[in-house]
Amino acid sequence: MRPTRSLLFLTGIAALVFAPAVALRSQDPQPVAAAWKKADSAAHAAMLASKEAYLGSKSCKMCHNKAETGDSYDCWENSGHAKAFETLKGEAAKKIAAELGLKDAAKAPECLKCHVTGAAFLGDEERFGKKFSLEDGVGCESCHGPAGGHIDGRKAAKATKVPTDRLPELPPGELVVPDLALCSQCHNDESPTYEAFDPEKMLKAIAHLHPLREKPRVSPPKKKESEK
Ligand code: HEC
Ligand code: HEC
Ligand code: HEC
Ligand code: HEC
Repeated sequence: MRPTRSLLFLTGIAALVFAPAVALRSQDPQPVAAAWKKADSAAHAAMLASKEAYLGSKSCKMCHNKAETGDSYDCWENSGHAKAFETLKGEAAKKIAAELGLKDAAKAPECLKCHVTGAAFLGDEERFGKKFSLEDGVGCESCHGPAGGHIDGRKAAKATKVPTDRLPELPPGELVVPDLALCSQCHNDESPTYEAFDPEKMLKAIAHLHPLREKPRVSPPKKKESEK
């Protein structure tokens, strides 16, 4: 199925499961949606509160693909996150889905929940821009929040180049600054393949800091002397 058609198809299921406010206004949200809609960190709360649209990772590329500013696009594109939707079409996913009695992992809300971006809003078409694609898997906006306002804001400010001589500084609220609890939203034992999440190792594996940033804002909890 082409992505656009599968998106339409998904919108159908997702409208029922993920966006009860739209499809099932008067009924209780199903457990999957409820889990997502419960904000358990500042970053997650900010993400759920945002009214901006998800525009998809491809819409970040033109401004965020330079080594001098951290090369976040290539870093993401080469990471497991970019392949998270693809993974649901693979053999391993088929096996897991069969064991759970699910027909197709790439269409099952039980799997999409953590393997695509903006899962809490799937089905609400107004929240997704034209370049948004489920194929992006866990995209930039899974961690930075919906970026419609950011892109409009930067274009309006004619600030299309990320500065190389200072750290980036955005107006408060334009994007979400991720926190570790946000990672745990997906990296937890609800994942059928869960492996213990080592914050230090995992943050290093996805790092795309600005070269001038000496102290990350998201850092692993300090280890006690005895654990070193
Ligand atoms: C929306 C859900 C989601 C969020 C939020 C998320 N991840 Fe992930 N992460 C995934 C999924 C799904 C995979 C597996 C991708 C695949 O291989 O298909 C993954 C894979 C990874 C991997 C590769 C691990 C491996 O063994 O392949 C690293 C490293 C990682 N995540 C780090 C992080 C960190 C650090 C954060 C928080 C800053 C984070 N993730 C937030 C869903 C998420
Ligand atoms: C799995 C979560 C995750 C994904 C996916 C992700 N980022 Fe990040 N991003 C982070 C974290 C964590 C930081 C570090 C914040 C800090 O410690 O200061 C960060 C920082 C940044 C920064 C600021 C760097 C700095 O030091 O000022 C930019 C710009 C950025 N990301 C852009 C992107 C873009 C563009 C994409 C997609 C192409 C993306 N990110 C995907 C988690 C993520
Ligand atoms: C039109 C260019 C443009 C596009 C497109 C764009 N950005 Fe940015 N972004 C910027 C600029 C410019 C800055 C730095 C602003 C400054 O400090 O003056 C920035 C900064 C950031 C930061 C740093 C925030 C911080 O506190 O360190 C993140 C994260 C980020 N962008 C994410 C994204 C994501 C995710 C997308 C795509 C969905 C995206 N950007 C698309 C221009 C853009
Ligand atoms: C709670 C979030 C979550 C849910 C729900 C989830 N996954 Fe994942 N999945 C992850 C994360 C995070 C990873 C990265 C490895 C890990 O820590 O589990 C991952 C990795 C995977 C992998 C790659 C394993 C590897 O190491 O190559 C497969 C396959 C997979 N998931 C299939 C599924 C299927 C099928 C479903 C639905 C039945 C599903 N996942 C539901 C979060 C989730």
